Amino acid sequence: MSFKTTEEHEVLRLRIREFAENEIKPIAFMLDQNSEYPAEIIKKLADMNLMGIPYPKEYGGAGLDILSYAIAVEELSRVDGGCGVILSAHVSLGSYPIFAYGTEEQKKKYLIPLAKGEKLGAFGLTEPNAGSDAGGTETTAVLEGDHYILNGEKIFITNADKADTYIVFAVTTPDIGVRGISAFIVEKGWEGFDFGDHYDKLGIRSSPTAQLLFNDVKVPKENLLGKEGEGFKIAMGTLDGGRIGIASQALGIAQGAYENALAYSKEREQFGKPICQQQIISFKLADMATKLRAARFLVYSSAELKENHEPYGMESAMAKQYTSDVCLEIVNDALQIFGGTGYLKGMEIERAYRDAKICTIYEGTNEIQRVVIASHIIGKPPKETGAIKSSKGPIVGIRKRIIFKDGTSEEKVNNLVDALKKDSYDFTVGIELDTPINKAERVVSAGKGIGKKENMELIKELAIQSGSAIGCSRPVAETLKYLTLDRYVGMSGQKFNGNLYISCGISGAGQHLKGIKDATTIVAINNNPKAPIFKNSDYGIVGDIEEVLPLLSKALDNGEPKKEAPPMKKMKRIIPKKVAPSWKNFVCGGCGYEYDAGIGDIDNDIKPGTLFEKLPEEWICPECGEEKDMFIEV
Ligand code: CAA
Repeated sequence: MSFKTTEEHEVLRLRIREFAENEIKPIAFMLDQNSEYPAEIIKKLADMNLMGIPYPKEYGGAGLDILSYAIAVEELSRVDGGCGVILSAHVSLGSYPIFAYGTEEQKKKYLIPLAKGEKLGAFGLTEPNAGSDAGGTETTAVLEGDHYILNGEKIFITNADKADTYIVFAVTTPDIGVRGISAFIVEKGWEGFDFGDHYDKLGIRSSPTAQLLFNDVKVPKENLLGKEGEGFKIAMGTLDGGRIGIASQALGIAQGAYENALAYSKEREQFGKPICQQQIISFKLADMATKLRAARFLVYSSAELKENHEPYGMESAMAKQYTSDVCLEIVNDALQIFGGTGYLKGMEIERAYRDAKICTIYEGTNEIQRVVIASHIIGKPPKETGAIKSSKGPIVGIRKRIIFKDGTSEEKVNNLVDALKKDSYDFTVGIELDTPINKAERVVSAGKGIGKKENMELIKELAIQSGSAIGCSRPVAETLKYLTLDRYVGMSGQKFNGNLYISCGISGAGQHLKGIKDATTIVAINNNPKAPIFKNSDYGIVGDIEEVLPLLSKALDNGEPKKEAPPMKKMKRIIPKKVAPSWKNFVCGGCGYEYDAGIGDIDNDIKPGTLFEKLPEEWICPECGEEKDMFIEV
């Protein structure tokens, strides 16, 4: 065992390194500063035949091995971690599931353009309630005729709206846990498929990240990947390989930081000699080089195992966990060697320090990598709650969802005003428009749907007539700059804890909803009936902002200036009754065995998800042999 890469690997490395040094390095600072997607760079990578490195030539790929792919991600990340993950997410997550689980038709239609780099791929697994616990997926896909109807939300999706083809995971059979999840190929541009705004991230800022929003998206039946119920295994199998990509990314970031620190330590003199000749610095460099070598062996050997079709899930988790952990240590030491100079914005080491952190978080946190590794070593721990996962429900809790969409705008406005008055809102009183959001009893809030800046006058008038302060979504403050940053409501902004929140032209991204989850009443006004905000509201009007807002202001105008509102009294939320569970358990009258539809009766070929009523007549209690009619409902 020589533990060496081949000459071909090193030729490839040099080719990519040269490209990264000449084409990416000069613009990396700007890409980071502007959170800019490097469209030209990705096009050139496609021209270099690198977007489908490990896929066979017949499917548009370069026909190289997994190690070549790892080297490509490493070399891009050595210069810019964002470029590295664009390639990694495209190859390992957006393309691999089609290559490994797709039909021949799916490969021809989707894999070929992905591997040629004509299209970009992405992977939609993570959700607000399904991060590390990926099996908690809540996005649904319901089969109606020739299509699945997809509804839900994916968060933190790499390649976001720059991608064209998405692998999306959704529940096709509810209440049976991970076996009810299926995978789909979804195309950008399909009606009802939308994106949230790009996240403003600490690092890897050249890589676009955003939410995927699905509202009644029609996915053709033939875009089901694998079989129904195989989605979770497809996701897990894909992530096993994806982790080699992230390990390579961490390796590249660490390598770049190490090289920069080494070069600097030879130039920088203190106490009459280069700092690399101070023992404390030379020992740091020695440790960095050792960690890099150990990490590289882990990454390359897991790539080799995958290439040789040997088990590699544990090894790729080890590579991802170890390399990203030591990457953090290496960038930290590298910045320390640079001292104050390294702390300045624009220094490569400062960017590497920020880029590194995500590698311990995404494609499975390093805590989850340890779960995976441990389960390979000692087996999976027994599940506490059987196959059924509990759902925490919507971010804003259960809401009334009374949406006025029929009739004239006047009728819809009157219906809303009547409902709010019935809920005891007094519109003869009001608060100052600039009351801090977290102290305001009411807020009228503007989203991007408000359109031109002059329309903020409509918001102001509605705030005056409804006795509210003014707020907005993050893009309205940050991008459009219609209001100051202290007015934006959301997870990273101000939290609204008052009674009435009137959102105007806000789509309802998860990050915004987290800022209003404690509102007593949420009202949505939006012209898109499929905007997620409606599913998270008590009342809503589907209609044009420019038409509805003036009418609503007029309807709330009592002809006098508003009196000063008394100190806020938090109103109690009226929560609609919970929907009954979709199935019941049955207990055997003979021995007390409980038939749970979520688990089924595997030993007797009864699949999880089979309702008791659907059990074959000849089915008998697996414990005592009693017949079906001896069971009683519990
Ligand atoms: N390959 C194939 N099947 C697998 C598998 C694998 N690697 N791992 C698990 N499975 C199967 C199991 O065998 C089991 O099947 P059976 O029911 O037939 O036995 C089924 O899947 C369920 O397995 P578990 O009971 O182990 O599942 P779990 O619910 O306990 O979860 C977990 C396991 C490892 C914690 C998993 O949820 C996980 O990996 N979480 C992390 C999610 C993650 O990595 N997200 C990353 C998102 S993508 C991203 O971040 C990309 C980016 O931005 C760049």
